[in-house]
Amino acid sequence: MAGLDFLQPYLDDLKAKGIYNYVKVVESAQTPTCIVNGKKVVNLSSNNYLGLATHPKLKEAMIKATEKWGVGAGAVRPIIGTMTIHKELDEKLAKFKKVESALTFVAGIAANRGSIQAILTNPLNKDEEGEYVVISDELNHASIIDGVRLTKAKRKIFKHKDMADLKKVLEESKGAPRIMIITDGVFSMDGDIAPLDKIYELAKQYGAFTMVDDAHGEGVLGKNGRGTVDHFGLHGKWDIDMGTLSKALGCLGGYIAGTKNLTEYLIHQARPFLFSTGHPPGVAAACIAAIDVLETEPEIHARLWENADFFKKGLRQLGLDIGETVTPIAPIIVGEERKAMELAKKLFEEGVLGVGIVFPTVARGKARVRTIVTATHTKEELTFALDKIGKVCKSLGIIK
Ligand SMILES: Cc1ncc(COP(=O)(O)O)c(C=O)c1O
Repeated sequence: MAGLDFLQPYLDDLKAKGIYNYVKVVESAQTPTCIVNGKKVVNLSSNNYLGLATHPKLKEAMIKATEKWGVGAGAVRPIIGTMTIHKELDEKLAKFKKVESALTFVAGIAANRGSIQAILTNPLNKDEEGEYVVISDELNHASIIDGVRLTKAKRKIFKHKDMADLKKVLEESKGAPRIMIITDGVFSMDGDIAPLDKIYELAKQYGAFTMVDDAHGEGVLGKNGRGTVDHFGLHGKWDIDMGTLSKALGCLGGYIAGTKNLTEYLIHQARPFLFSTGHPPGVAAACIAAIDVLETEPEIHARLWENADFFKKGLRQLGLDIGETVTPIAPIIVGEERKAMELAKKLFEEGVLGVGIVFPTVARGKARVRTIVTATHTKEELTFALDKIGKVCKSLGIIK
Protein backbone atom coordinates (compact mmCIF):
# COMPACT_ATOMS: atom_id res chain seq x y z
CA MET A 1 0.00 0.00 0.00
CA ALA A 2 1.20 3.49 -0.79
CA GLY A 3 0.78 6.71 1.22
CA LEU A 4 -2.61 6.80 2.91
CA ASP A 5 -4.17 3.94 0.95
CA PHE A 6 -4.55 2.11 4.27
CA LEU A 7 -7.45 4.45 5.11
CA GLN A 8 -9.52 3.29 2.15
CA PRO A 9 -10.70 -0.20 3.27
CA TYR A 10 -12.53 1.36 6.22
CA LEU A 11 -14.36 3.82 3.98
CA ASP A 12 -15.21 1.06 1.50
CA ASP A 13 -16.54 -1.06 4.35
CA LEU A 14 -18.87 1.75 5.52
CA LYS A 15 -20.23 2.07 1.99
CA ALA A 16 -20.73 -1.70 1.70
CA LYS A 17 -22.68 -1.66 4.98
CA GLY A 18 -24.83 1.29 3.84
CA ILE A 19 -23.71 3.49 6.76
CA TYR A 20 -21.28 5.83 5.02
CA ASN A 21 -22.09 9.38 6.10
CA TYR A 22 -22.52 11.71 3.14
CA VAL A 23 -22.37 14.96 5.13
CA LYS A 24 -25.38 17.09 4.33
CA VAL A 25 -24.93 20.72 3.43
CA VAL A 26 -27.43 23.29 4.67
CA GLU A 27 -27.91 25.89 1.97
CA SER A 28 -30.06 28.29 4.00
CA ALA A 29 -30.16 29.54 7.59
CA GLN A 30 -30.70 26.93 10.31
CA THR A 31 -34.49 27.33 10.38
CA PRO A 32 -37.32 24.82 11.02
CA THR A 33 -37.80 24.50 7.27
CA CYS A 34 -34.51 24.81 5.44
CA ILE A 35 -32.73 23.87 2.24
CA VAL A 36 -30.45 20.87 2.50
CA ASN A 37 -28.57 19.49 -0.52
CA GLY A 38 -30.90 21.48 -2.76
CA LYS A 39 -34.09 20.15 -1.14
CA LYS A 40 -36.60 21.98 1.04
CA VAL A 41 -37.09 19.96 4.22
CA VAL A 42 -38.71 20.20 7.64
CA ASN A 43 -35.62 20.12 9.82
CA LEU A 44 -35.86 17.68 12.74
CA SER A 45 -32.13 17.36 13.20
CA SER A 46 -30.75 20.54 14.69
CA ASN A 47 -29.91 21.22 18.33
CA ASN A 48 -31.21 24.74 17.86
CA TYR A 49 -33.92 24.00 20.46
CA LEU A 50 -35.09 27.56 20.94
CA GLY A 51 -34.46 28.85 17.43
CA LEU A 52 -31.87 31.28 18.80
CA ALA A 53 -29.42 30.60 15.93
CA THR A 54 -31.45 33.06 13.87
CA HIS A 55 -32.90 35.27 16.63
CA PRO A 56 -32.71 38.98 15.65
CA LYS A 57 -31.28 40.03 19.03
CA LEU A 58 -28.38 37.59 18.72
CA LYS A 59 -27.64 38.63 15.15
CA GLU A 60 -27.68 42.31 16.11
CA ALA A 61 -25.40 41.70 19.11
CA MET A 62 -22.92 39.81 16.94
CA ILE A 63 -22.81 42.52 14.27
CA LYS A 64 -22.45 45.36 16.78
CA ALA A 65 -19.70 43.60 18.74
CA THR A 66 -17.84 42.78 15.53
CA GLU A 67 -17.92 46.43 14.54
CA LYS A 68 -16.66 47.47 17.95
CA TRP A 69 -14.12 44.74 18.73
CA GLY A 70 -13.19 43.22 15.36
CA VAL A 71 -13.52 39.62 14.26
CA GLY A 72 -10.90 37.85 16.34
CA ALA A 73 -9.64 37.64 19.93
CA GLY A 74 -6.09 37.83 18.65
CA ALA A 75 -4.41 35.56 21.18
CA VAL A 76 -4.90 32.59 23.46
CA ARG A 77 -6.95 33.61 26.47
CA PRO A 78 -4.28 33.73 29.20
CA ILE A 79 -1.98 35.87 27.03
CA ILE A 80 -4.13 38.72 25.67
CA GLY A 81 -7.10 36.84 24.17
CA THR A 82 -9.47 37.74 27.03
CA MET A 83 -11.43 40.88 26.18
CA THR A 84 -13.98 42.71 28.31
CA ILE A 85 -16.72 40.92 26.36
CA HIS A 86 -15.34 37.48 27.32
CA LYS A 87 -15.31 38.48 30.99
CA GLU A 88 -18.82 39.81 30.62
CA LEU A 89 -19.99 36.46 29.20
CA ASP A 90 -18.35 34.49 32.02
CA GLU A 91 -19.98 36.75 34.62
CA LYS A 92 -23.37 36.62 32.91
CA LEU A 93 -23.24 32.84 32.79
CA ALA A 94 -22.30 32.59 36.48
CA LYS A 95 -25.25 34.76 37.44
CA PHE A 96 -27.65 32.87 35.18
CA LYS A 97 -26.49 29.49 36.49
CA LYS A 98 -26.57 30.75 40.12
CA VAL A 99 -22.94 29.81 40.81
CA GLU A 100 -19.90 31.73 42.03
CA SER A 101 -18.07 31.60 38.75
CA ALA A 102 -18.07 30.37 35.14
CA LEU A 103 -15.38 29.99 32.50
CA THR A 104 -16.03 29.71 28.76
CA PHE A 105 -14.18 27.57 26.25
CA VAL A 106 -14.43 27.74 22.46
CA ALA A 107 -16.60 24.60 22.31
CA GLY A 108 -18.38 22.14 24.56
CA ILE A 109 -15.97 19.44 23.55
CA ALA A 110 -13.06 21.63 24.67
CA ALA A 111 -14.78 22.36 28.00
CA ASN A 112 -15.22 18.65 28.70
CA ARG A 113 -11.82 17.48 27.56
CA GLY A 114 -9.97 20.35 29.20
CA SER A 115 -11.74 20.36 32.53
CA ILE A 116 -11.88 16.60 33.09
CA GLN A 117 -8.21 16.28 32.34
CA ALA A 118 -7.30 19.21 34.58
CA ILE A 119 -9.47 18.16 37.52
CA LEU A 120 -8.13 14.62 37.50
CA THR A 121 -4.57 15.90 37.40
CA ASN A 122 -2.57 16.79 40.50
CA PRO A 123 0.08 19.40 39.69
CA LEU A 124 1.48 19.03 43.22
CA ASN A 125 1.57 15.22 43.32
CA LYS A 126 1.70 13.44 39.97
CA ASP A 127 2.26 10.05 41.66
CA GLU A 128 -1.22 10.14 43.16
CA GLU A 129 -3.10 10.51 39.86
CA GLY A 130 -3.23 6.77 39.09
CA GLU A 131 -5.24 6.32 42.30
CA TYR A 132 -8.04 8.65 41.22
CA VAL A 133 -11.31 7.10 40.11
CA VAL A 134 -13.75 8.44 37.55
CA ILE A 135 -17.17 6.81 37.43
CA SER A 136 -19.11 7.43 34.25
CA ASP A 137 -22.62 6.54 32.99
CA GLU A 138 -22.29 4.00 30.17
CA LEU A 139 -24.12 6.30 27.73
CA ASN A 140 -22.07 9.44 28.39
CA HIS A 141 -21.08 11.64 25.46
CA ALA A 142 -17.89 11.04 23.47
CA SER A 143 -16.31 14.27 24.75
CA ILE A 144 -16.51 12.95 28.33
CA ILE A 145 -14.93 9.70 27.23
CA ASP A 146 -12.18 11.68 25.49
CA GLY A 147 -11.57 13.79 28.61
CA VAL A 148 -11.30 10.69 30.78
CA ARG A 149 -8.88 9.08 28.33
CA LEU A 150 -6.55 12.04 28.82
CA THR A 151 -6.12 11.18 32.51
CA LYS A 152 -4.41 8.43 34.46
CA ALA A 153 -7.51 7.89 36.61
CA LYS A 154 -9.05 4.44 36.92
CA ARG A 155 -12.12 4.36 34.67
CA LYS A 156 -15.29 2.73 35.94
CA ILE A 157 -18.62 2.58 34.17
CA PHE A 158 -22.05 2.30 35.79
CA LYS A 159 -25.08 0.96 33.96
CA HIS A 160 -27.20 3.69 32.43
CA LYS A 161 -28.96 5.62 35.25
CA ASP A 162 -28.70 2.51 37.47
CA MET A 163 -28.21 3.77 41.03
CA ALA A 164 -27.69 0.29 42.51
CA ASP A 165 -24.84 -0.23 40.07
CA LEU A 166 -23.39 3.22 40.82
CA LYS A 167 -23.49 2.38 44.54
CA LYS A 168 -21.68 -0.90 43.87
CA VAL A 169 -18.93 0.89 41.94
CA LEU A 170 -18.61 3.53 44.67
CA GLU A 171 -18.30 0.80 47.26
CA GLU A 172 -15.46 -0.79 45.26
CA SER A 173 -13.75 2.60 44.93
CA LYS A 174 -13.67 3.49 48.64
CA GLY A 175 -10.38 4.99 49.76
CA ALA A 176 -9.41 6.58 46.43
CA PRO A 177 -8.05 10.12 47.00
CA ARG A 178 -10.42 11.64 44.39
CA ILE A 179 -13.63 10.07 43.10
CA MET A 180 -15.53 11.86 40.36
CA ILE A 181 -19.00 10.83 39.20
CA ILE A 182 -19.81 12.15 35.77
CA THR A 183 -23.01 12.00 33.74
CA ASP A 184 -24.81 13.66 30.87
CA GLY A 185 -27.79 15.71 32.16
CA VAL A 186 -30.02 14.91 29.19
CA PHE A 187 -28.89 11.96 27.06
CA SER A 188 -28.66 13.19 23.50
CA MET A 189 -29.63 10.00 21.72
CA ASP A 190 -32.58 9.03 23.95
CA GLY A 191 -33.86 12.25 25.51
CA ASP A 192 -33.96 10.82 29.05
CA ILE A 193 -32.69 12.67 32.13
CA ALA A 194 -30.00 11.56 34.58
CA PRO A 195 -31.25 11.34 38.20
CA LEU A 196 -28.92 14.03 39.52
CA ASP A 197 -30.71 14.12 42.87
CA LYS A 198 -29.97 10.45 43.54
CA ILE A 199 -26.44 10.72 42.17
CA TYR A 200 -25.81 13.66 44.52
CA GLU A 201 -27.00 11.64 47.55
CA LEU A 202 -24.68 8.76 46.68
CA ALA A 203 -21.78 11.13 46.02
CA LYS A 204 -22.29 12.71 49.46
CA GLN A 205 -22.41 9.31 51.12
CA TYR A 206 -19.16 8.15 49.50
CA GLY A 207 -17.19 11.42 49.50
CA ALA A 208 -17.23 11.72 45.71
CA PHE A 209 -17.66 14.91 43.70
CA THR A 210 -20.02 15.39 40.77
CA MET A 211 -19.91 16.70 37.22
CA VAL A 212 -22.72 16.97 34.67
CA ASP A 213 -22.50 17.57 30.93
CA ASP A 214 -25.63 19.59 30.34
CA ALA A 215 -25.27 20.19 26.61
CA HIS A 216 -28.88 19.11 26.00
CA GLY A 217 -30.38 20.34 29.28
CA GLU A 218 -29.14 23.90 28.79
CA GLY A 219 -31.96 26.15 27.60
CA VAL A 220 -34.34 23.17 27.79
CA LEU A 221 -34.77 22.12 31.44
CA GLY A 222 -35.15 24.24 34.58
CA LYS A 223 -36.49 27.75 35.12
CA ASN A 224 -35.84 29.88 32.02
CA GLY A 225 -33.77 26.97 30.70
CA ARG A 226 -31.18 27.08 33.49
CA GLY A 227 -30.52 23.38 32.97
CA THR A 228 -30.65 20.04 34.72
CA VAL A 229 -29.06 21.18 38.01
CA ASP A 230 -31.82 23.77 38.31
CA HIS A 231 -34.44 21.18 37.31
CA PHE A 232 -33.42 19.17 40.40
CA GLY A 233 -32.88 22.23 42.64
CA LEU A 234 -29.26 21.29 43.32
CA HIS A 235 -27.70 24.76 43.28
CA GLY A 236 -24.80 24.92 45.71
CA LYS A 237 -24.70 21.12 45.99
CA TRP A 238 -23.70 19.91 42.54
CA ASP A 239 -19.98 20.50 42.02
CA ILE A 240 -19.30 20.98 38.30
CA ASP A 241 -21.83 22.05 35.67
CA MET A 242 -20.61 21.89 32.10
CA GLY A 243 -22.80 23.48 29.46
CA THR A 244 -22.65 24.34 25.81
CA LEU A 245 -23.51 27.57 24.07
CA SER A 246 -23.71 25.74 20.74
CA LYS A 247 -27.12 24.10 21.06
CA ALA A 248 -30.15 25.77 22.67
CA LEU A 249 -28.20 29.00 23.04
CA GLY A 250 -27.84 29.02 19.29
CA CYS A 251 -24.22 30.05 18.97
CA LEU A 252 -20.90 28.40 19.84
CA GLY A 253 -18.90 27.51 22.91
CA GLY A 254 -18.79 25.51 26.10
CA TYR A 255 -18.39 26.50 29.74
CA ILE A 256 -17.76 25.22 33.21
CA ALA A 257 -19.84 26.67 36.04
CA GLY A 258 -19.13 26.16 39.73
CA THR A 259 -17.00 27.57 42.50
CA LYS A 260 -14.46 30.37 42.16
CA ASN A 261 -11.59 28.01 42.98
CA LEU A 262 -12.74 25.65 40.21
CA THR A 263 -12.54 28.28 37.47
CA GLU A 264 -9.29 29.72 38.88
CA TYR A 265 -7.83 26.23 38.80
CA LEU A 266 -8.99 25.71 35.19
CA ILE A 267 -7.44 29.02 34.13
CA HIS A 268 -4.10 27.57 35.24
CA GLN A 269 -4.55 23.93 34.26
CA ALA A 270 -7.12 23.43 31.46
CA ARG A 271 -5.17 23.07 28.22
CA PRO A 272 -7.91 24.27 25.83
CA PHE A 273 -8.02 27.50 27.86
CA LEU A 274 -4.25 27.82 28.10
CA PHE A 275 -3.34 26.97 24.54
CA SER A 276 -6.25 28.06 22.34
CA THR A 277 -7.53 31.42 21.09
CA GLY A 278 -10.67 32.84 22.69
CA HIS A 279 -14.00 33.26 20.94
CA PRO A 280 -14.41 35.93 18.29
CA PRO A 281 -15.92 38.88 20.23
CA GLY A 282 -19.08 38.65 18.09
CA VAL A 283 -19.64 35.11 19.33
CA ALA A 284 -19.26 36.16 22.96
CA ALA A 285 -21.73 39.01 22.38
CA ALA A 286 -24.28 36.71 20.75
CA CYS A 287 -24.01 34.30 23.69
CA ILE A 288 -24.64 37.17 26.12
CA ALA A 289 -27.70 38.14 24.06
CA ALA A 290 -28.89 34.50 24.15
CA ILE A 291 -28.91 34.53 27.97
CA ASP A 292 -30.81 37.84 27.88
CA VAL A 293 -33.41 36.20 25.64
CA LEU A 294 -33.75 33.22 28.00
CA GLU A 295 -34.37 35.61 30.87
CA THR A 296 -36.74 38.00 29.12
CA GLU A 297 -38.66 35.85 26.62
CA PRO A 298 -39.81 32.80 28.60
CA GLU A 299 -42.59 32.21 26.05
CA ILE A 300 -39.96 30.71 23.67
CA HIS A 301 -39.12 28.07 26.27
CA ALA A 302 -42.83 27.32 26.80
CA ARG A 303 -43.32 26.92 23.03
CA LEU A 304 -40.48 24.39 22.87
CA TRP A 305 -42.26 22.15 25.39
CA GLU A 306 -45.65 22.59 23.73
CA ASN A 307 -44.17 21.54 20.37
CA ALA A 308 -42.25 18.64 21.92
CA ASP A 309 -45.40 17.29 23.62
CA PHE A 310 -47.44 17.63 20.43
CA PHE A 311 -44.85 15.86 18.29
CA LYS A 312 -44.08 13.02 20.70
CA LYS A 313 -47.80 12.35 21.17
CA GLY A 314 -48.10 12.11 17.37
CA LEU A 315 -45.19 9.66 17.12
CA ARG A 316 -46.63 7.46 19.86
CA GLN A 317 -50.06 7.51 18.19
CA LEU A 318 -48.41 6.18 15.04
CA GLY A 319 -47.28 3.21 17.14
CA LEU A 320 -43.58 4.06 17.00
CA ASP A 321 -41.01 3.13 19.67
CA ILE A 322 -39.59 6.42 20.94
CA GLY A 323 -37.99 4.93 24.03
CA GLU A 324 -37.96 6.76 27.36
CA THR A 325 -37.70 10.35 26.19
CA VAL A 326 -39.01 13.08 28.50
CA THR A 327 -37.48 15.98 26.56
CA PRO A 328 -37.75 17.43 23.00
CA ILE A 329 -35.42 14.67 21.73
CA ALA A 330 -37.48 11.83 20.22
CA PRO A 331 -35.67 8.83 18.74
CA ILE A 332 -37.57 6.63 16.29
CA ILE A 333 -35.95 3.36 17.30
CA VAL A 334 -35.96 0.76 14.53
CA GLY A 335 -33.11 -1.54 15.63
CA GLU A 336 -31.37 -2.60 12.45
CA GLU A 337 -28.73 -0.18 11.13
CA ARG A 338 -29.54 -0.51 7.46
CA LYS A 339 -33.23 0.09 8.18
CA ALA A 340 -32.50 3.25 10.16
CA MET A 341 -30.42 4.64 7.30
CA GLU A 342 -33.14 3.65 4.82
CA LEU A 343 -35.76 5.40 6.93
CA ALA A 344 -33.69 8.60 7.08
CA LYS A 345 -33.12 8.47 3.31
CA LYS A 346 -36.79 7.96 2.47
CA LEU A 347 -37.88 10.67 4.89
CA PHE A 348 -35.48 13.06 3.23
CA GLU A 349 -36.99 12.26 -0.18
CA GLU A 350 -40.37 13.11 1.34
CA GLY A 351 -39.09 16.45 2.68
CA VAL A 352 -38.32 15.56 6.32
CA LEU A 353 -34.81 15.67 7.77
CA GLY A 354 -34.11 13.24 10.60
CA VAL A 355 -30.62 11.82 10.80
CA GLY A 356 -29.97 8.07 10.97
CA ILE A 357 -27.88 7.17 14.03
CA VAL A 358 -26.06 3.85 14.22
CA PHE A 359 -23.28 2.09 16.15
CA PRO A 360 -20.96 3.30 17.69
CA THR A 361 -23.04 6.41 18.51
CA VAL A 362 -25.76 4.09 19.86
CA ALA A 363 -25.53 0.41 20.86
CA ARG A 364 -25.85 -2.26 18.20
CA GLY A 365 -29.48 -3.22 17.61
CA LYS A 366 -30.65 0.24 18.71
CA ALA A 367 -30.25 2.13 15.43
CA ARG A 368 -32.65 4.97 15.02
CA VAL A 369 -33.66 8.17 13.34
CA ARG A 370 -33.33 10.90 15.92
CA THR A 371 -35.73 13.81 15.82
CA ILE A 372 -35.60 17.09 17.71
CA VAL A 373 -38.32 19.70 17.49
CA THR A 374 -37.69 23.33 18.25
CA ALA A 375 -39.69 26.21 19.67
CA THR A 376 -39.91 27.74 16.20
CA HIS A 377 -41.53 24.83 14.34
CA THR A 378 -45.15 25.54 13.43
CA LYS A 379 -47.93 23.00 14.03
CA GLU A 380 -48.25 22.73 10.22
CA GLU A 381 -44.59 21.76 9.88
CA LEU A 382 -44.89 19.19 12.67
CA THR A 383 -48.11 17.73 11.22
CA PHE A 384 -46.47 17.49 7.80
CA ALA A 385 -43.52 15.64 9.35
CA LEU A 386 -45.78 13.25 11.30
CA ASP A 387 -47.75 12.42 8.13
CA LYS A 388 -44.57 11.63 6.20
CA ILE A 389 -43.06 9.62 9.08
CA GLY A 390 -46.26 7.53 9.27
CA LYS A 391 -46.26 6.95 5.51
CA VAL A 392 -42.57 5.97 5.25
CA CYS A 393 -42.58 3.81 8.40
CA LYS A 394 -45.55 1.87 6.99
CA SER A 395 -43.81 1.39 3.67
CA LEU A 396 -40.74 -0.03 5.48
CA GLY A 397 -42.83 -2.32 7.71
CA ILE A 398 -41.78 -0.48 10.88
CA ILE A 399 -45.44 0.05 11.78
CA LYS A 400 -48.60 -1.57 10.41
C1 LIG B 1 -23.75 15.72 25.40
C2 LIG B 1 -22.82 16.58 24.60
N1 LIG B 1 -21.74 17.10 25.22
C3 LIG B 1 -20.88 17.90 24.56
C4 LIG B 1 -21.07 18.20 23.23
C5 LIG B 1 -20.06 19.09 22.53
O1 LIG B 1 -20.56 20.38 22.48
P1 LIG B 1 -20.06 21.40 21.34
O2 LIG B 1 -20.86 21.11 20.12
O3 LIG B 1 -20.31 22.74 21.92
O4 LIG B 1 -18.59 21.13 21.15
C6 LIG B 1 -22.15 17.67 22.54
C7 LIG B 1 -22.35 17.98 21.09
O5 LIG B 1 -22.72 17.12 20.32
C8 LIG B 1 -23.07 16.86 23.24
O6 LIG B 1 -24.14 16.35 22.64
